[in-house]
Amino acid sequence: MLIEFIIFSFVFIIMAGVLNRRYETIGNVQSVDTVERFIRIKCDNAVLYLHFVSENIMRVVLDHGHGLPGSSSYAVSGKCEDVKFSIEKKDRVYEIISINLRIEINSNPCRLAIYDRNGILILKDHESLGMSWRGSRITCFKELHDESFYGLGEKTGMFNKRGKAFTMWNSDTPAYTTKQDPLYQSHPFFVSRHNDVGFGIFLDNSYRTNFNFGAGNDQFYSFEAEDGRFDYYFIYGPDYTDVIANYSNLIGKMPLPPKWSLGYQQCRWNYATDHDVLGLAKKFRNKGIPCDTIYLDIGYMDWYRCFTWHPTNFSDPNGMLDELHAMGFKVVVIIDPGIKVDSNYRAYKEGTKGGHFCTYPDGSLYRGQVWPGWCCFPDFSRKQTREWWGTLYQGLIDAGVDGFWNDMNEPATWGGTFPDVIVFNNDGDVTDHSEMHNLYGALMAKATYEGVLKLKENERPFVLTRSGYVGVQRYATIWTGDNVSSWEHLRLAIRMCLGLSMSGYSFCGSDIGGFMGSPTGELFCRWLQFGLFCPLCRTHSAINTPEQEPWSYGEEFESINKKMIKLRYRLLPYLYNEFYESMRSGIPILRPMILESDNVDKVSEMDDQYMFGHDILVAPVIENNGRHRAIYLPRGRWFNFWTNEQVQGDTEVVVEAPLDQIPLFVRGGSIVPMQEETQFVEENNNFKLYLHIYPDEGTFVRSFYEDDGKSLEYLKGEFRISTMKLHKKSEQITFSIKYSSGGYKVSDRKWILIFHGITYLPQSVVLNQNEIFEEDIGEAVIKNQSCSIEQGNLNICIDDSYDDYELVITL
Ligand code: GLC
Repeated sequence: MLIEFIIFSFVFIIMAGVLNRRYETIGNVQSVDTVERFIRIKCDNAVLYLHFVSENIMRVVLDHGHGLPGSSSYAVSGKCEDVKFSIEKKDRVYEIISINLRIEINSNPCRLAIYDRNGILILKDHESLGMSWRGSRITCFKELHDESFYGLGEKTGMFNKRGKAFTMWNSDTPAYTTKQDPLYQSHPFFVSRHNDVGFGIFLDNSYRTNFNFGAGNDQFYSFEAEDGRFDYYFIYGPDYTDVIANYSNLIGKMPLPPKWSLGYQQCRWNYATDHDVLGLAKKFRNKGIPCDTIYLDIGYMDWYRCFTWHPTNFSDPNGMLDELHAMGFKVVVIIDPGIKVDSNYRAYKEGTKGGHFCTYPDGSLYRGQVWPGWCCFPDFSRKQTREWWGTLYQGLIDAGVDGFWNDMNEPATWGGTFPDVIVFNNDGDVTDHSEMHNLYGALMAKATYEGVLKLKENERPFVLTRSGYVGVQRYATIWTGDNVSSWEHLRLAIRMCLGLSMSGYSFCGSDIGGFMGSPTGELFCRWLQFGLFCPLCRTHSAINTPEQEPWSYGEEFESINKKMIKLRYRLLPYLYNEFYESMRSGIPILRPMILESDNVDKVSEMDDQYMFGHDILVAPVIENNGRHRAIYLPRGRWFNFWTNEQVQGDTEVVVEAPLDQIPLFVRGGSIVPMQEETQFVEENNNFKLYLHIYPDEGTFVRSFYEDDGKSLEYLKGEFRISTMKLHKKSEQITFSIKYSSGGYKVSDRKWILIFHGITYLPQSVVLNQNEIFEEDIGEAVIKNQSCSIEQGNLNICIDDSYDDYELVITL
């Protein structure tokens, strides 16, 4: 017995030792001091560094053998602020106090808790698990309460990620399922709220990372990196919108895209010949369906060699591009990273000579198979390679190509595996594929963006990328990859775009109609309606599927699709202004309802309606035969866009949704700038600006941004911001517009003010203190002004000679 007991105890002690070795924790705090800009917390088994990047953002780095944290991250672009803080020790707790936050460091064992300045707990390390690691895999466990979790970029599943686990590992996932994970992009950032205080966590680690939001447990949520420095940012709100805005200050904002890229875009794998492409373009114009951009998929190349043209199918690219430009089209071509192994091919020859391709550790070239067969892959983590890559676009740009679509850049290879041992230069800090994988697409997009910017001086580049990491918003727009033509996927596309939006990513969209398979007329029509209320509006379909264009489903659908695309074009001034607002503030263009309403019970899971910019609520129809939609309207007055019916919010309504209407509501007090119908963005007929005004009691201010839509002059002040003010007090409405900043001159135009919900002529209208309309005279007194009731709304047309004006309307 005794012997057995001794053997058992011995085995137990050994086992405990083994287990301990597999699972190590940070241990107790030994000391706290400051070094350079960091608060250094020395613990038994690691050193923790804290750094206030700004008053609302604190960086936390676990040094587990990597030394003092640097700031070289591809994701982070913001500058650090000088934040004042104090450190105090109270028994076993260190308190670090800054303006907005109080951090408590418990010493035995080391645990971190973050409070706001009112002492409200925001998050806390899990009492027993805290920060720990097994080998190189480090995990931070936080206490789980009743939080919801949003973000993580382009993820499938529900909008609220509570109860689920996710991985970041960019993957080529054709025809992905509605629950598949991971997909093409990595955005290791989430937003949550505890005790009514919103916060975000960004784990800046490009290795494979894992997130658990209470999946399989009721104790913790966690984030984990499989290797590398464990470096995360706590981002304070207190509102969700503040979290996203603060996060965008850290990771940088999107630049303004060329305005043409806001138009309707048509893509297909493949429009096989130049003849087909020109035929397509003419069809759009002959049918009067607006369209700005046609894409060329891999078939335009000489057997998938990037930067070449197919010798017979596209024998005269310059001629084709000239003709397309003359019709007002822009052309975007696909470029994949795989460069065909072919000693007669310029990109391959230059790439091998310049040491631009990824290698095995022994220096031999890595080859993987993609469309062209065996390929080499540029090492975009090397500056010289990014610069070289940029120069390769010269020929395409000279031919007249307007934008570029970077695909297969996870990087994808047949077999799905790019070996982890492949070496990457990482701008001199050599590493391997396991660290660079998730960054590859973003670095390719950066190389493309910067290269094109150099080649087309003073023109805004347009780059679309499939793969990305945090920071990619500074270079490219993204779409949600190879989805499927089904109603479930339409629903998923909305969720995925809202997830991207919650992750600080604005310029996104999905393949309208679905990429794989083929939609019915009704599915295409409803998906198009959603797509038209997305920042990126592009139809795309796979090879060997039936044609998927706005006219492909019979006359009834064609005329509905045409009407809806025209609406997007009429809304361009509003949308462009929203792009500007998003560029400025970092707040996304698609705003999930949780950014809009405090009614948590109603909106925390709501992912089938959203705000399109500040003032338009969109509720896409996502069911076959759906002719009604239930919609939640947040607090305030709302106008049904189609009927002008007014509803007092914080209520649910059911509206009719005939096939030719996507349910839309406009916020009371808003001013929605619209323009005339056009066939393409740069068609010059913007001589009339329509301001759709939705009067509500009170005072409302909106700004309206304009610039040339294509150059970088806006960065030097060549823009125009007008401030519009609307005031309504019972029977009197005052509307004023004041040119407030920027040096951009707009050409003369007429202003047409449409006061919604005012169905009768007013008693008087005073423009800059001159009576222009009196009911008993019955006409506009001053030449060129007019006042009338049209389609049930009061329309006032103001002469173009006025820049600033004030209008007082007595009803
Ligand atoms: C990938 C892309 C898809 C493209 C196809 C051919 O599957 O995701 O959009 O059409 O490759 O280039």
